[in-house]
Parts: sequence; C-alpha cells; structure tokens
Amino acid sequence: MTVYSLGLLLASLAALVQAQQPNRPNDLNITQAQSNAYGCSSKACLENLQTFEALDRPIFGDAPFNYDFYATADNFTKSKPGDLLKLQRQNSTLYDITPGSSLWFIQYTSVGVGGQPVPSTGFILLPYLSEASNKTPLISYAHGTIGTAAACAASSSYNGYDYDSWKLLPPHGFAVVATDYAGLGNNYTTHKYGNPVINSEDVYFAVVAARKAFPNVFTTKWASLGHSQGAGAIWGLEENPRVASNQSGEYVGGVAVAPSARLNDLLTAAPLSEGYGFGPLIVNIFQSLNFSIQPPVLTPEAMKRYPLMNALGLCDNSYAGLNFDLPNHGILKPTPEQDKTIHEAYTKFQDQYGAATGRKGYKDFLVIQSHDDEIVNYTATIKAYDFACKKGNIVHLSVYHNLTHDESMAASAPEWLKWLSDRISGVPLANATKCTIQQKTPLYVPSRSGFGLA
Ligand SMILES: *[C@@H]1O[C@H](CO)[C@@H](O)[C@H](O)[C@H]1NC(C)=O
Ligand SMILES: *[C@@H]1O[C@H](CO)[C@@H](O)[C@H](O)[C@H]1NC(C)=O
Ligand SMILES: *[C@@H]1O[C@H](CO)[C@@H](O)[C@H](O)[C@H]1NC(C)=O
Ligand SMILES: *[C@@H]1O[C@H](CO)[C@@H](O)[C@H](O)[C@H]1NC(C)=O
Ligand SMILES: *[C@@H]1O[C@H](CO)[C@@H](O)[C@H](O)[C@H]1NC(C)=O
Ligand SMILES: *[C@@H]1O[C@H](CO)[C@@H](O)[C@H](O)[C@H]1NC(C)=O
Ligand SMILES: *[C@@H]1O[C@H](CO)[C@@H](O)[C@H](O)[C@H]1NC(C)=O
Ligand SMILES: *[C@@H]1O[C@H](CO)[C@@H](O)[C@H](O)[C@H]1NC(C)=O
Ligand SMILES: *[C@@H]1O[C@H](CO)[C@@H](O)[C@H](O)[C@H]1NC(C)=O
Repeated sequence: MTVYSLGLLLASLAALVQAQQPNRPNDLNITQAQSNAYGCSSKACLENLQTFEALDRPIFGDAPFNYDFYATADNFTKSKPGDLLKLQRQNSTLYDITPGSSLWFIQYTSVGVGGQPVPSTGFILLPYLSEASNKTPLISYAHGTIGTAAACAASSSYNGYDYDSWKLLPPHGFAVVATDYAGLGNNYTTHKYGNPVINSEDVYFAVVAARKAFPNVFTTKWASLGHSQGAGAIWGLEENPRVASNQSGEYVGGVAVAPSARLNDLLTAAPLSEGYGFGPLIVNIFQSLNFSIQPPVLTPEAMKRYPLMNALGLCDNSYAGLNFDLPNHGILKPTPEQDKTIHEAYTKFQDQYGAATGRKGYKDFLVIQSHDDEIVNYTATIKAYDFACKKGNIVHLSVYHNLTHDESMAASAPEWLKWLSDRISGVPLANATKCTIQQKTPLYVPSRSGFGLA
C-alpha cells in the first residue's frame, strides 16, 4: 500500500468517526418545548449542551443503533440468569475492531436489584485464533462511565467504546465479552450506575451466556478486567459468591484499574463541586434504585434539568456539561442538616452496594491505581485496600505515579496482560497469601493529555 492510499484510508476513517447517523437515540438536539420545560433556554445552557453533545457523538460514530436488537427478547420472561436470549453477528466493516476478529452482539439474562432477572446486552469479540492452547481464554470486560441513559450502549459505539482498553486483549489471543450493563442498550430496567454489587452480576452472567453462544470454544478458566465504574464492578465480582461456583467455568481472578468501590470515600476525598460534572450521575445512582434516602446533591435549577439526561440520551460528556453555566456547576452547597443526609445516603449505599466493605473476596485480585488520578482519588482506593485487607481479603495493589484516570488503563497494560495470562495458564501468584503494594514509576513522566471523564 502506498503512503498516499494509506493517507486516504486514514482520512476516511476519521470521517467515519466524526459523523453520527441521524437516527441514533443518544445526544439528541433539544427542542424548544424541552428547553422551556426543563429550564435550559438561556444561551449558555443551549451552547453548553451543543458543545458537550458534540464531544459525545464521536464516541458512537457512524455505527447504527440496532433498535431491534436492543428490544427485550420474546423469550426473556421464561428465561433464567445466564441464558442466551439473542446472538447476532455484526458486519465488521461498520466497526473499528481488531483486524481478522469477529464481532457478535448478545442479549442475555442477568440479575438486577432484589434478585430479579433482567435483560442485559453486550458484545463478544473472538480473536482470529489463540496460540496458547486449542481453546480460547475469555476475559469479561467491564467498561468505565459512558452515561446512564439507555441510548448510551457501549456495544453501539463504532469501536465498542474502546479507549486503549479492551482492544489490547484480542492481539494477545484473548476473547472478550463486554457487557453494556443492564439498562444501557436494552431499556427493560434502568441502569444502576456505579453499583459494584449489581454491575458485577452483568459481568458474571455475560460469561455464562457467552459459553452458551459458543460452546466448547473457551477455556474453562476465565478472568476479568475493568476500569473505573467497571473496576468497581470487578471488585464487586471478587466479592460475589457466584464466582466460587463453577456455573461460569472457573473464575481465576480479576484486575480493577482505578476502581470506584466505595462511594462515600470517593466523594469525601474529592469534593463533588470539583468533580467534573458527576452531580447528575450521583442523583441517578439513588433515583434508579428508589433508594430509601435521596441525598440532596443538585440545586433546584439543576434538578429541573435532570430529566434531560434521559429525554435527550445524554452520555459521557453531555450530562456532565449540562449544569456548567449554573453557580457551583449546579451542585448544592449543603446546610449541615443536608450534609448529614448526604453522608447517611452515601454510607448506606456504600455498605449495601459497594465493594471493599467487609464481604469476603474469593479469587486472585489485582488493583491498579494512579497516585495522581483526578477522578478516582488515590486516598479512596488506599482506604478500600486497607479495609479489605483488614477484613482478611488478599488484595495486590500496584500504585502508578503520574498518570491521569484515563491514561491508567493503557499505561498499566504490560502488567495486567501478563497477570491475566498467568492466571489463565495457572502460573502461581507471587505473595498469594498476603496483601502487597508495589510502586510503579514511568521511564519519563508523561506530558499531560488533559483530564478524561471515563
Ligand atoms: C442538530 O443540531 C445541529 C447543530 O444545530 C445540526 O447540524 C443537526 O443537523 C441537528 N440534528 C438533527 C437530527 O436535527
Ligand atoms: C424501550 O425500547 C423500545 C424498543 O426497544 C421502545 O419501543 C420503547 O419506547 C422504549 N421505552 C422507553 C420507556 O424508552
Ligand atoms: C431465545 O430465543 C433465541 C432465538 O430464537 C434462542 O437462540 C435462544 O436460545 C432462546 N433462549 C432461551 C433461554 O430460550
Ligand atoms: C458490510 O457492510 C459493507 C458496508 O456497508 C457492505 O458493503 C457489505 O456488503 C456488508 N457485508 C455484509 C456481509 O452484509
Ligand atoms: C471448580 O473447578 C475447579 C477446577 O476443576 C475445582 O478445583 C473446584 O473444586 C471446583 N469448584 C466447585 C465449587 O465445584
Ligand atoms: C485526592 O484527595 C486528597 C484529599 O483526600 C487530595 O489532597 C488530593 O489532591 C487528591 N488527589 C488528586 C489527584 O486530586
Ligand atoms: C419508592 O419508594 C417509596 C417508599 O420509599 C414508595 O412509596 C414508592 O412507591 C417507590 N416508588 C417506586 C417507583 O417504586
Ligand atoms: C511524578 O510522581 C512523583 C512521585 O509521586 C512525584 O514526586 C512527581 O512530582 C510527579 N511529577 C509530576 C510532573 O507530576
Ligand atoms: C512479594 O513480597 C515481597 C515482600 O513483601 C516483595 O519484595 C516482592 O516484590 C513481592 N513480589 C511480588 C511479585 O509481588
């Protein structure tokens, strides 16, 4: 291929990721009626919305939103957790995925709040082949924050919402099953954002369903990997008793990069007003659960706009930008009384749905955390590590220096790729019976690429 034609090819890929099909449900243009009803008619609000929606659209690109696929399967009602409901091969031409691999969408039954069966969707990516054995090792991947509206399904993104994350796995011979999490894509239930206990169910049952989709393809041993919200889910999976059974094969362990495990600790370490627009997501955590305490997080003005998240399908950037024109970014300055309610809510949620809160851990477990993470604060992860270890769990923590939240995933890949590969092939874990902390410093301190939102 000549340099010239390579240039053309790259140019056409760039065009592909910048456009967005008009019939996608995410990041819709606001109507006049909506801007009046939800208090977003000022120039600043409308401009912010346009600016931040324009940042979201390239996440999904020109891939179609497959409404039929995301619709709840007819046979869902009679199904049980781990059942495969739909399997649909995708046309690789439409996606930016590992060359020579195949892409499949799955809908499967997972478990929601109170043990209720819920449909969940996701994708499976099969590598060309695996050299290591005649079976292919499977990693269940849990992505970071993408939004809470059903329109924000990672599987509907042109690259499966890769940010130098899951795509590093297939070239090493790993197959990937990547859940969207229940409530993203399919709308039978609302998404339970930032919920390690509930999100871990989707990560787990994705594997049971993947084995039904491709019998005899995967090794019995499987492992998991997640980032941010997804890393919270992996910590939840570590403490989910299901991994001690063999329904899914043999779970051998997981890697949690920048885990959001303990909500109260996270929001105490880094105050919400400086928190990159996470306010609406925090409200969503409690509303989607109809939690017994609803913390007063946003000002009345910001709460009035809150329904726009679902009405417009606001995803990763645009929900965050929604209140940037308001004083203190729409975050309430709580009275002492309100502050008490907030902390009661956070702590109660953390105990019920968090990870590293005293539940038993079952398998090998590696946590990766940047000392300088601007989203998931180092102090909160150290607290989670200390708490889990004090309760008798074994956690291995690698502290990376000088990385942002989004850089952490790719920068630590040499460590987690080897770790995953060693667990699957049965290499004994060093220091398996005690908690350890290792420090990792860069060859050169990376120059800043800006702060991400995942
Ligand atoms: C949304 O608004 C943008 C900017 O005003 C415009 O270019 C685009 O065509 C609109 N999309 C739809 C679906 O109306
Ligand atoms: C849920 O999705 C289905 C199609 O998949 C759609 O017909 C329905 O309107 C959606 N419901 C809500 C509440 O958005
Ligand atoms: C549901 O239906 C699909 C498509 O007909 C089928 O492949 C799948 O096995 C069914 N699942 C269950 C649990 O019945
Ligand atoms: C895949 O998509 C490309 C581009 O739209 C199209 O040309 C091709 O026919 C499709 N292949 C199949 C098997 O549908
Ligand atoms: C699961 O399988 C592994 C390996 O075959 C075995 O050692 C273990 O005892 C099994 N666990 C259960 C709960 O059956
Ligand atoms: C993490 O939180 C601590 C306070 O708990 C603060 O001093 C530190 O600056 C925060 N780190 C980052 C990178 O924001
Ligand atoms: C939410 O919980 C309250 C009680 O705490 C109950 O009255 C209400 O019906 C619940 N709403 C939904 C939608 O479940
Ligand atoms: C890089 O990390 C080290 C160790 O935490 C710290 O001393 C140093 O100030 C950091 N450098 C920059 C440029 O942030
Ligand atoms: C094992 O622990 C020892 C002492 O705590 C430490 O020096 C060593 O680096 C650890 N090795 C690994 C691979 O974690």
